[in-house]
Amino acid sequence: MTTTPKSMDAIMALCKRRGFVYQASEIYGGINGFWDYGPLGAQLKKNLRDAWWQDMIMNPAWGRKGPNGERVRCVPLETCIIQHPKVWAASGHVGGFNDPMVDCRETKMRYRADHLRLVHATNERKSGRFFAFIENDPDTLESALKKLGKYVRRDMGQGDTEILEFSALDMEEELPRVVGPHAKEAGTLTPPRQFNLMFHSYTGATAGEDDKVYLRPETAQGIFVQFKNVVDTTRVKIPFGIGNTGRSFRNEVTPRNFTFRSREFEQAELEFFCHPDESQDWYRFWRDFRMEWWKSIGLAGENLILREHDKDELSHYSVGTSDVEYRFPFTAPGFGELEGIAHRGCFDLTQHQQHSNAKLDYFDTTRGETLPNGGKKGERYIPHCIEPAAGLDRGALALLCEAYTRDDSRPSPEFLKLNPRVAPIKAAVFPLVDKDGMPEIAERLTDELFARFGRGGFIESDAKQSIGKRYARMDEAGCPFCFTIDGETLKDQSVTCRDRDSGTQQRIALDQVKVFLGEKLGM
Ligand code: GAP
Repeated sequence: MTTTPKSMDAIMALCKRRGFVYQASEIYGGINGFWDYGPLGAQLKKNLRDAWWQDMIMNPAWGRKGPNGERVRCVPLETCIIQHPKVWAASGHVGGFNDPMVDCRETKMRYRADHLRLVHATNERKSGRFFAFIENDPDTLESALKKLGKYVRRDMGQGDTEILEFSALDMEEELPRVVGPHAKEAGTLTPPRQFNLMFHSYTGATAGEDDKVYLRPETAQGIFVQFKNVVDTTRVKIPFGIGNTGRSFRNEVTPRNFTFRSREFEQAELEFFCHPDESQDWYRFWRDFRMEWWKSIGLAGENLILREHDKDELSHYSVGTSDVEYRFPFTAPGFGELEGIAHRGCFDLTQHQQHSNAKLDYFDTTRGETLPNGGKKGERYIPHCIEPAAGLDRGALALLCEAYTRDDSRPSPEFLKLNPRVAPIKAAVFPLVDKDGMPEIAERLTDELFARFGRGGFIESDAKQSIGKRYARMDEAGCPFCFTIDGETLKDQSVTCRDRDSGTQQRIALDQVKVFLGEKLGM
């Protein structure tokens, strides 16, 4: 197979062409940082969400036993996007959820200061120019190197240049000598300013400062503030998890890389509560399971890494964090975060207990001194929390990037090798020609397959165009199997089964299609 490297432009074009992702409000020129999912994208994302829900809440960690030797237990929750404003004061988001922002006065572009890098001639730091570029962005790096070459009037080899972080600049002395990533002149970038990422609105008609509310920047806090209700109204016992999925909003300074950094996105978060002494074991358990899980739905091992955060990278609350990262075409050869697995200690419950005055500790009847009757005296504590926090949009994007394949030796070179579990079209049924009783058999088979597999996606049926074109359309949409009713079917009740990835065909009995597909889809 002759393959060419994956191009993000080609992936985005396919996503638009086949109805996976559209720009939000496109007919009005679009709105930066917002994306809609078309019919295939909406089903792909639903399949991803369902897989997460099934494997994290309904049958957590595939029914495995946790470090305590017992089956892992989790329950679902659905909480509001708008919460009491005090939730966000307690969580630290109102005061501290900031990104440093840099504006360019020449181009009116805005950048995250922590995403900016500078290249300069090593021996000219004191007097020369610095050329800014955006990390993991080959275009701005190439342009910065070109500008530097022109400035010093020679080609710069290795060792002649040095790359610095933007924050390494002496803002007063050196900033006037910086040329922005898209600018021609030096000195047009502003010093970084802190910018709060919370979207806000007002409740009620008066819209005064007292009515100010925030759109949640993460779904996690809804879980912490309902922790006590869940414990009091269900039979859960520590250790257990509460999971939810839903929209979150962040007014990102520089939304970019397609859906990767959006201003509205969907998260799938589990807060797993446990005794402090067992928390490190649970942290390792979830961290390792989440890596396995992403692989199980189709991300190749070599494109995934588990990266343990350095101490200076940890969030204010975190005792330890690892990220599952994927090598997206726009980050390659580097990686971009798909999911963070954080050991949050007892930070959140303690904060909400202090700010709300509600008691959020837990009375554990299985611990403490042994009583004369053999029972336990019990122990009261604030549970520790392990949080696997995944992004469903980044997940869907990683699945699309991983699946995108270009093979110039095929009649229609672009196709999506989506894992059958998440594929939005599960199968297609084609009558070879639109006559001779073939459409009727195709319709019956379509109905039968839909009744069995329709909850996971579409069963397509198509009688138009050449069979090659119909296969190509399904390949591009990531449909794993096509079944064709042809002349042979009329004679011996067999159908052609075509495999998307290999393009090979085999004949199988018409009455075995359902069993075959069930095995292949794992449904
Ligand atoms: N409760 C913890 C939390 O929210 P996070 O690392 O900020 O942690 C979790 O977010 C996941 O949400 C990320 O790993 C990412 O997949 C997704 N995410 C965060 N910001 C995003 C954005 N602006 N656009 C798309 N996905 C985002």
